[in-house]
Amino acid sequence: MRPALILSASLLSFAARAESGYDAWLRYQPVEYRGPLPAAVVVEGDSPIVASARDELIRGVRGMLGRTLRVESRAPAEGAIFLRRTGSGSSDGFELKAQGGSIQVVGTTDRGVLYGVFALLRRIALGESLANLDDKQSPFTNVRWVNHWDNLDGSIERGYGGRSLFWDNLHARTDLTRVRDYGRLLASLGINGCSINNVNANPRILASDFLPEIVRIADALRPWGVRTVLSVDFGSPQTIGGLSTFDPLDPAVADWWKAKVDEIYRAIPDLGGIVLKADSEGRVGPSAYGRTHADAANVIARALKPHGGLLLYRGFVYDHHMDWNNPKNDRARAAVENFRELDGKFEADAVLQIKNGPIDFQVREPVSPLFGDLEKTKPSLELQITQEYMGQARHAVFLVPMWKETLDFDLRVRGETTPVKSLAKGGIIGVSNAGLDENWFGNNLSQANLYGFGRLAWNPDLSPEDIAEEWALLTFGDNPKVLDVVDRILLTSWRTYENYTGPLGLQTLTDITGNHYGVAVEASERNGWGQWHRADEEGVGMDRTVATGTGFIGQYWPEVARFYESLETCPDDLILFMHHVPYTHVLHSGKTVIQYIYNSHYDGAEAVESYVNEWRLLKGLVDERRYNEILAQLEYQAGQAEVWRDSVTNWFFHASGIADAKGRVGRYPGRYEAESAQLQGYKVTDVTPWEAASGGKAVACASSNCSATFSYAGQAGWFDLRVEYFDQNNGAARYRAWLNDQFIDEWTAADHLPTQKIDGSSSTRRTVRGLALRPGDRIRIEGSPDGGEAAALDYIEIVEQKK
Ligand code: GCU
Repeated sequence: MRPALILSASLLSFAARAESGYDAWLRYQPVEYRGPLPAAVVVEGDSPIVASARDELIRGVRGMLGRTLRVESRAPAEGAIFLRRTGSGSSDGFELKAQGGSIQVVGTTDRGVLYGVFALLRRIALGESLANLDDKQSPFTNVRWVNHWDNLDGSIERGYGGRSLFWDNLHARTDLTRVRDYGRLLASLGINGCSINNVNANPRILASDFLPEIVRIADALRPWGVRTVLSVDFGSPQTIGGLSTFDPLDPAVADWWKAKVDEIYRAIPDLGGIVLKADSEGRVGPSAYGRTHADAANVIARALKPHGGLLLYRGFVYDHHMDWNNPKNDRARAAVENFRELDGKFEADAVLQIKNGPIDFQVREPVSPLFGDLEKTKPSLELQITQEYMGQARHAVFLVPMWKETLDFDLRVRGETTPVKSLAKGGIIGVSNAGLDENWFGNNLSQANLYGFGRLAWNPDLSPEDIAEEWALLTFGDNPKVLDVVDRILLTSWRTYENYTGPLGLQTLTDITGNHYGVAVEASERNGWGQWHRADEEGVGMDRTVATGTGFIGQYWPEVARFYESLETCPDDLILFMHHVPYTHVLHSGKTVIQYIYNSHYDGAEAVESYVNEWRLLKGLVDERRYNEILAQLEYQAGQAEVWRDSVTNWFFHASGIADAKGRVGRYPGRYEAESAQLQGYKVTDVTPWEAASGGKAVACASSNCSATFSYAGQAGWFDLRVEYFDQNNGAARYRAWLNDQFIDEWTAADHLPTQKIDGSSSTRRTVRGLALRPGDRIRIEGSPDGGEAAALDYIEIVEQKK
């Protein structure tokens, strides 16, 4: 924590200003800074990056301090802020130093100057004094990149913040203002590379007539020191080049890659490099010719080498047609099995890009053992900023604590201290997928993940607490109440999400063959994708031990392997990832596995409820628009957390036959199932998967208007009414609510949730607050379908009124 942070400055009131989130953490709101500040800026050099640095400095100082720095060409006698580069050193480091009445911002590169300016502005924004400034920083790695999974048609694979910033309708967008502004956000964190198209690459990206489109995007990112990177399809020599083969060992193919790369560099001399996903999830690759991943990587790396470009080869390679019935099969083993033997066979400029865990961005995974297995090949660490299995920006989940655990995890290579961060020298890469939504991610709180990613890629030793606090202060101002609530939500949110989705290493229990969003506990089983948890009536978990299981644990160095292999030492958080145990197995926490599953889901759902209540206390302290947007997001999340809670706990109750010791599972006081209501027009329908709806059933309206009437049987008093309904994305059904004959609420189910079905992804809650109910009252919900959306209802719930 930084105790001095808030004391030295006080931000002026901003609560009245409507903010959209577009400015993210670069809001440059007025601060009352009492320290000295030179009146002029003197810039050495005239590169576009240094010009960005100068303009940013003027913009930031004007916004925060209400002063416009004079641009001088020579040092004025009274001192100035000097921006200059030393030109020594290959990394983008910088030094900030107060000297006499001047401030020196000295970068080793132009980027270093720019990063120095952002660091200086961040200090002012955080209220730190510049008086004795003396700060020298250099980045942890030269590859601090984001990957975008944007398709050329403007859609984004696993993107939750609107359409692509870069592409529309198979062209670069006409207006690239957003790309420039995104470049600025990236630069403010020290991110220096951005791949601009999906790893599942459209071959067209390499067509000669398409190059001008890429050039326009590269031009927009360049002033911010962000190098453009391309994802390519390995079959391109054939599909785009017209060759009869794409065999990486065929000289004609090597020539084609060389000529293609030369052509790109003529147009974009600072291209960062190329990302390649091959032989994975249906992408073509070297296996078509019996060649290795190293052969594939090298043919492109050799073409890039003369230009200083890097080839990032994705380590995400596995067989997605594995036999589920074979208990020895294990997707987690794939990365090591595919790449271990190739260590030393990659060109020096080919970097292996490895996801943090051995499966695929699940809510909790162990570190990929491949990091510890490469001696000669440079690994880079791939993290996912876009929250694919993490609530998809609908749920507030701050990922920095998770990334930090990965970076710090000690792989004990050769028995020595070997944290992942000491191995990932090939770079830190984040799948970002920011989009056209005004706040970039579709959720204001999700911005903290891009912020945290950039800060960690620059310096993996920063703590999640410091990063959260910095972000909160820059994003919402310095009101201690606001900071407290934001920090608490951020720092507990990963555990909370894990608690109500998949605890104990179960992974995110979602629809893994579909949208990866809503609950579907069994979706991972009985298919070839290998995200199995193997829960049955006896027990749960993947046996990955060497002794009796798949042997995955044996891929770690002995100390780590021993730690996971033994039930005595394996941490509870990963027990079901590593072991298959009976439901009655007692964890280190003293709880049985089954009781832990029940408890954690109730804890998780309760925690989100508390986020809502705490956020509501901030009314008037956060600008109105963002206050309302975050409140709506948290309220939605609270509803979804309850759906997850009930679904997972019921599923496991059903599987295990063991009751919840606290008597909660299967008993929902205040809940009235729609299928038990008096129905007019509504028909009872089975929901798939059954656990996604209360009682396994919902009611759907097959005519133009239907109603469900519930008779209240509780005590008299003040209550909140919750209506659990299904908001599919193939229509905008209308709902109206009545208490006896009194109209009380109406709404349209017009959200864009990722499903056309009545299931866990569409299940949504509407709350009508503060109703005075008496026994015998009738609550009537009317639904009018629209398009394919059936105005479906799951239940109503009557809960004590929340103040
Ligand atoms: C996940 C994700 C895919 C993506 C893949 C990848 O499987 O669901 O959409 O293409 O990762 O990282 O390549």
